[in-house]
Amino acid sequence: MKIVQLTSDRKRIDVCLTPALLPLYEIENSIVVVIDIFRATSSICYGIENGATAIIPVSQIEECVAYQGQDCLIAAERNGEVVEGFDFGNSPFAYVPEKVAGKTIVLTTTNGTHAIQLSRKAKQIVIGSFLNLTSLSNWLQGQNENILLVCAGWKNKFNLEDSVFAGAVVDKLSGGDYLLDDSAVAAADLYTLAKDDLAGYLKKSSHSDRLKKLGIEEDIAFCLNIDITSAIPVLDGEKLVKL
Ligand code: MLT
Repeated sequence: MKIVQLTSDRKRIDVCLTPALLPLYEIENSIVVVIDIFRATSSICYGIENGATAIIPVSQIEECVAYQGQDCLIAAERNGEVVEGFDFGNSPFAYVPEKVAGKTIVLTTTNGTHAIQLSRKAKQIVIGSFLNLTSLSNWLQGQNENILLVCAGWKNKFNLEDSVFAGAVVDKLSGGDYLLDDSAVAAADLYTLAKDDLAGYLKKSSHSDRLKKLGIEEDIAFCLNIDITSAIPVLDGEKLVKL
């Protein structure tokens, strides 16, 4: 009698389109990639590339304040703006070598750092953005693990830019033998729609509109630079460090 193998060894790529959906995923069995294109994960990738020793992501402003006076910079953003009293917020232009090299930064943002905290049960947490798309995808391909791409969204709602980036990762990994969930298929389709003119397509996104109103369009353009960094930030205890 022929024995049919019902279980599959194929690894999965799932896309969690908003943090509100995270309880539905088997996070413990996956490498999680946290994605907040405008702007938290782009700035984290840029800061780690530029020599920040560590970035400590925290959910609440009060947690960030608790680090005041210690040997670190404190950074806080809410609703796109720098919170008063902090060294800086979430603009990638604050994460240049002159400001961050050799420094530890404690960071809280509206959605990005919250999504990192919600993902803490994962096998491993890494940070993704267009800035490190290829190095991240190549590394993921070599891991032979389930991958869960977690879109930080906006206040638990879906957003375009994080989903398009998730699609870019799915596209990069399309040579591998992965099982995709429907959101991974949808994200890849969205990326196909957007890829020839990312900036033009993402003008439709509500957060690019929000940042435009705050007069920080240059941040949007910067966060859409592809492969200008190769560092992969990874969560090690409380700290994001270079993998
Ligand atoms: C966030 O974490 O919510 C975003 O990065 C918001 C922002 O653009 O500052």
